[in-house]
Amino acid sequence: MKRPIEEHAARFDEVAGEYDDTQNQTDEYRACVSLVVDYADPGPEDVVLDLGCGTGAIGLALADRAKRVVGRDISEGMMERAREKAAQRGLDNVEFGEGSFRDPNVDGSVDVVVSNFAMHHLGDEEKREAIDVVAGLGPRRFVLGDVMLFGEADPESPLYSPEVDDPATVGVLADALTDAGFALTAVEMVHEQFGVLVAERATGTGDSTGDGR
Ligand SMILES: C[S@@+](CC[C@H](N)C(=O)[O-])C[C@H]1O[C@@H](n2cnc3c(N)ncnc32)[C@H](O)[C@@H]1O
Repeated sequence: MKRPIEEHAARFDEVAGEYDDTQNQTDEYRACVSLVVDYADPGPEDVVLDLGCGTGAIGLALADRAKRVVGRDISEGMMERAREKAAQRGLDNVEFGEGSFRDPNVDGSVDVVVSNFAMHHLGDEEKREAIDVVAGLGPRRFVLGDVMLFGEADPESPLYSPEVDDPATVGVLADALTDAGFALTAVEMVHEQFGVLVAERATGTGDSTGDGR
């Protein structure tokens, strides 16, 4: 991580009020949101965990289809906005609270995990740890939309902020997901620097170790 977690939280607290209107509102971001929502595809009995939920772009869009949505983030400002939106939409099956990739702070089982445009704040080794943590929660599906590099990073025109963001190559993410016991079932390139990965496990294996035990 190029900046301490507290600094990321403060940075997002500061922009929370304008995030939905001005921050990140690129075609690539919108395409990732749409793909993550489509691939998450929860059923009516599913609990969905949205990690790095921000103002709730993904979690709120899935609430109608899921039994329950749990949003976790390190920025209270971003989650306050998510809670307001949930109230405006009359959603009573969503909950937003403090949690990180390292410690999602979730009780009970989780069926589908989603994360959009959040994991790229972590360094590669931390991303690997985060993916292991997700696998340990035992979901049957993990949908990851993010800044990720399909080719060489272009230092002349990065579509992210290299001083705070630390995107991985798709290869690093794919290896981490398969090492954690997931099968990669879809790879969507939205742009050479943005994409969505879909990782699945057989339902009910109880294999939280990712090595078949
Ligand atoms: C660019 S926003 C994306 C928010 C939302 N997922 C979306 O698609 O609009 C990134 C979010 O990740 C959160 N975040 C950054 N590092 C995190 C970490 N280590 N654990 C949990 N959330 C984190 C930030 O607070 C911020 O709300």
